[in-house]
Amino acid sequence: MTSVRYPSYKNIDPYIDVERLSALDAFITDRLRQRLEGARDRQFYTGPFLLDADAPARPGSRMIELTRSREPEDYYDLDRTEIWEPSPEAAEFAPLMDFVATLPFAATGRMLIMYDPDGRAVSAHKDHDSAELCHEFIWLRTNLSKPFYMLDPHTGERDYVAGYSAWFDTVNQFHGADASGELSFSIRIDGVFDDAFRSLIPFPGKNRAAAASVWANAG
Ligand SMILES: [Fe+2]
Repeated sequence: MTSVRYPSYKNIDPYIDVERLSALDAFITDRLRQRLEGARDRQFYTGPFLLDADAPARPGSRMIELTRSREPEDYYDLDRTEIWEPSPEAAEFAPLMDFVATLPFAATGRMLIMYDPDGRAVSAHKDHDSAELCHEFIWLRTNLSKPFYMLDPHTGERDYVAGYSAWFDTVNQFHGADASGELSFSIRIDGVFDDAFRSLIPFPGKNRAAAASVWANAG
């Protein structure tokens, strides 16, 4: 039995080119501001697993889908890498796509930019409730302005992501963002980690969704 401490996340900065990532900040900020003029991007939906049932499930942030599924929308498809293909937006964010190609994935699935021009809070939520389902993803940002946290529902304790990237348990703890009042955004890339990266991860035999926290707790 592995004991896992929450709230927690695994810092992925040591495994990626943070300098190259942060160098994309001005480019992405500029592209997002251009898209705002059209305001055509879909609203981000937290899903049904909110910490506070009265909190907004569509808190105001929007999504840019850099890949789209060829099948009808289903949250449980986000790591079925074979059904995802680049969207027209991928070309608009080509330098970001080039960076994504350097990440430790054998294959990639869903890719999203989540942004909010007004930096509203994102309601604390879990992504799903299947403890044996461990999504392999990297959460990224090009600046440190989005106050993004993990939250332990038992203690209310929050752990804010400090760096540019994270992998986290989306099932046994909550995550969300505080309001910043100014443009904030983050990027999430789902897929299948490559063998070299997977070999670093102490996947638990049970409650596989906890893998990122088990890894984080291992130091
Ligand atoms: Fe989420």
